[in-house]
Amino acid sequence: ASKTEFDVSTVEAGQLVTIQWQGKPVFVVHRTPELLKQVDGHDDKLKDANSEAIAEVQQAWMDTPEARKYRAIKPEYLIVVASCTHLGCIPLFKPSAGRKDWGDSVPEDWAGGWHCPCHGSYYDLSARVINGSPAPHNLHVMPYEYKTDTTVVIG
Ligand code: FES
Repeated sequence: ASKTEFDVSTVEAGQLVTIQWQGKPVFVVHRTPELLKQVDGHDDKLKDANSEAIAEVQQAWMDTPEARKYRAIKPEYLIVVASCTHLGCIPLFKPSAGRKDWGDSVPEDWAGGWHCPCHGSYYDLSARVINGSPAPHNLHVMPYEYKTDTTVVIG
């Protein structure tokens, strides 16, 4: 089947679950209010703050500044393809930047999100790529919709 159903309510607050869609890993993150706040305040550090560069903007629901910032139909559940847009490695989820653990290579004002272990791309908590990363684009948002209040159909 080309579509995948998933109950987002099974993802605990603050956690990430990786599911499969068409043989590809997909991240589902349950963003708490605290994590959602980390999406703000660094648009000038992003390559594509408004998610304008790739086809995802064709998705009908991504038609408001808020939808483009949170990149999700329901902001608390981010659903993105788990493939770095540089060369396809799986980025690591680091919701709190934990700057001390990351040494000198962490952008000083990175508020947390994903770090790609292959060549060091950084993404924020909306999976938007940080300036200076080799990745050209934000992690992709694939087509999906809510079938019930908590069940998404991806694809
Ligand atoms: Fe992620 Fe190269 S594949 S930075």
